Amino acid sequence: MRRAATARHYLMVRPTYFDVEYSINPWMDPQKPTFTELAVAQWEWLRDLFGELGHTVESVEPRAGLPDMVFSANGATVLNGKVLVARFRHTHRSQESDAYLEWFRQNGYRDVRQAQWINEGEGDYLVAGRHVLAGSGFRTNVRAHDEFEEYFGVPVIGLTLIDPRYYHLDTALAVLGDESIMYYPEAFTAESRELLEELYPDAILACDGDAEAFGLNAVSDGEHVVLPQAATGLMAQLREHGFDPIGVDLSELLKAGGSVKCCTLELRA
Ligand code: ARG
Repeated sequence: MRRAATARHYLMVRPTYFDVEYSINPWMDPQKPTFTELAVAQWEWLRDLFGELGHTVESVEPRAGLPDMVFSANGATVLNGKVLVARFRHTHRSQESDAYLEWFRQNGYRDVRQAQWINEGEGDYLVAGRHVLAGSGFRTNVRAHDEFEEYFGVPVIGLTLIDPRYYHLDTALAVLGDESIMYYPEAFTAESRELLEELYPDAILACDGDAEAFGLNAVSDGEHVVLPQAATGLMAQLREHGFDPIGVDLSELLKAGGSVKCCTLELRA
């Protein structure tokens, strides 16, 4: 099957103040050294790659004291030009919400709401064609799913995560195209797995090693799939399915439990 890319509009945040100062997921070890300059270089590589693929990248000014702000996917969900700004689970990240709110207000977005219920933006809401897949279990509150439906006027498909290593939906599942996804079944409850099997019988399934390499934290434009280069099994499967996988090295950001998708918020007009 031939795949076709469509140009995307992304929002990213330079990891100027990146560090692992606290631990809010099992990947984060504040004792382990981080190298901010390397994080910046790896991030710039990703940003430039999106440009080379024909996508537009905008950025929010990073703020000192918010070391996880590079993970812009968590800042909001943007659908049909409407913006639902995130409310973070942990106080360490809660001030990021205001930074995103300000950016959207100053950049011409008229319909902007700061969420009432805890939800971490595209970390837990993934749009696949007419479906919105909505994660919960660790970060996003299930009641936030109702707020999402009411605000955007679209139903969501709830999926429950059970493995703390895969605490956001975008660490366990990636949207490849309107009708195609890849995911790590073990990250979900039996009920959610059944639902995924029913909705996506042809999905690509990740093995333990590829999931651990954050291979599911990927960004697809319908043809090119940008993902951590260590996820070699997924790369081979993607090729078999007609996609063009592009491996990148974001090893520094991985120390905070994030990779490609976490750094990329899609602005949907
Ligand atoms: N350290 C961040 C946190 O635990 C990483 C966020 C990763 N973002 C994502 N979309 N999965 O919140």
